[in-house]
Amino acid sequence: SHIGSIKAFAEANGVGPIPSSYHSITEPRDDVAHDLAASIPVIDFSLLTSHHDPRRRAFAVRQLGKACADWGFFMITNHGISETLMEQVINKSHEFHNLPIEEKKEFADNKGPFTPIRHGTSFHPQSEKVHYWRDYLKVLTHPQFNFPHKPYGFKEVAYEYCEKIREIARNLIEAISESLGLEAKSLVEYTGFDRGLTLMAVNLYPACPEPELALGMPPHSDHGLLTVLIQNGIGGLQVMQGGRWVNVDPLPNCLVVNTGDQLEAVSNGRYRSVVHRAVLNNRDTRISVAVANGPELEKEIGPAPELVEKEEEALFKCTTYSHYFQIQQQSRLSHKSALDQIR
Ligand code: SIN
Ligand code: FE2
Repeated sequence: SHIGSIKAFAEANGVGPIPSSYHSITEPRDDVAHDLAASIPVIDFSLLTSHHDPRRRAFAVRQLGKACADWGFFMITNHGISETLMEQVINKSHEFHNLPIEEKKEFADNKGPFTPIRHGTSFHPQSEKVHYWRDYLKVLTHPQFNFPHKPYGFKEVAYEYCEKIREIARNLIEAISESLGLEAKSLVEYTGFDRGLTLMAVNLYPACPEPELALGMPPHSDHGLLTVLIQNGIGGLQVMQGGRWVNVDPLPNCLVVNTGDQLEAVSNGRYRSVVHRAVLNNRDTRISVAVANGPELEKEIGPAPELVEKEEEALFKCTTYSHYFQIQQQSRLSHKSALDQIR
């Protein structure tokens, strides 16, 4: 059976070689497109909500549409979430992972993806051939808010943060809807966003003595519509652009956003979900908190009807998000293997 916590293992293992069951990199890691890092789109969120200035808003909507079409990935500034709240989320996340193993046992991830609170390691160790150098806490925070009662104060901070992220994601989806030539409310309504699933993933990647051999997360796309991420100042996220990996070095206090599989499906392939991965380093523990915002679970979702009304062929089958989420969370995470099942 697999290692139960990579954090505990890394602490005991020190600088020793890592187990071969973590060797997920088979080619040398020399393919990073450093020249593209400065071109990652940056969206000024305050322009998207400046309804008193339609020209500036229209500009930001076009810019957002272009970011979704060209990258599936962008950073947002002026989003209104305080630096203090972001710091509290990261600090409490770290405190959670620092709890003794026995204190986290009650949350052990062994009852499937609809368990409201689950703590585990790698991605889905039961179906993987190789494992990933990460521990996680995953919590379903919407439509019902669940959260661990420890460490003290985490729940309150997470509630406030998730509410704000949902509001930002809703605004982004409205603008994305407009950028596709639809009514602002169209995608929010079609996906049942206001009753949608939100999953908060609290990731810890310990320093790894052989970072060139292992990964924190394999190349994959996310299941939902939009995932919003913050981190503890330690890099590791890479996004795929034009077949090459690009290091994400977020601007101070920005939110990092990636488009997910459900956005690719509802946009009928216009906005493709971005493939990304997490790489490791041998010095610092990395913490990231990713809030994935998806459709309503029981809704049948496929390409938005207005987009396929004319001659256009629907590129994706309709499925409930509940079904989709289940396949994605329980398969071996690899590129777009989940989305490929509904093409
Ligand atoms: C993820 O892909 O869900 C996490 C990526 C990261 O930790 O940067
Ligand atoms: Fe992801």
